[in-house]
Amino acid sequence: PGTLVELLESRLRDIPDFPSPGVVFKDVTPLLADGEAFGAVVADMADRRRGTIDLVVGIEARGFIFGAALAQQLGIGFVPVRKAGKLPGRTRGVSYDLEYGSATIEIHEDSFIGGERVLVVDDVLATGGTAEAACRLLEDGGAEVVAFEAPIELEFLHGRDRLQGRDVHTTLVVR
Ligand code: PRP
Ligand code: HPA
Repeated sequence: PGTLVELLESRLRDIPDFPSPGVVFKDVTPLLADGEAFGAVVADMADRRRGTIDLVVGIEARGFIFGAALAQQLGIGFVPVRKAGKLPGRTRGVSYDLEYGSATIEIHEDSFIGGERVLVVDDVLATGGTAEAACRLLEDGGAEVVAFEAPIELEFLHGRDRLQGRDVHTTLVVR
């Protein structure tokens, strides 16, 4: 059997010019469809974070898939960060730029009582705009962002630079 990186790489699909010309989109749907590979990615995150966090925060949409699976594996709760206008309760939001446009993300303002140790999960770290915005949102809401995890990092977009001083872990680094 190969490494987790090789497994992950073999289950990703490149889609050129999606969602806009010039972007080569890393599609995780083949990975999700393979129970063994999906499970291995989630188990790896769980092994790294077990006992160190109180809540998992997942970023819409693909961060929900990895984040919810991870939270269940760790036996802890899950909090969604969503695109603007989707959460039903009172929210706080933040706007940011991403590889192909701009967006606003929101969280329920009563998600934290204060001091919770949270792990932020997404599928891809690209420019880091989303992850940085999410960290700001959570910290303003009283949570402690312990770390950020994504299975995939697009290194050429330098997202890591926007998360300096944080514990950032990615598995497959695309150069
Ligand atoms: C993608 C991806 C990350 C973000 C990464 O989501 O799932 O959330 O972009 O890019 P960044 O590091 O440049 O911010 P997208 O906004 O396409 O939304 P979706 O998951 O709802 O399709
Ligand atoms: N794939 C998935 N999500 C992304 C990408 C990508 O290539 N770039 C920015 N977000």
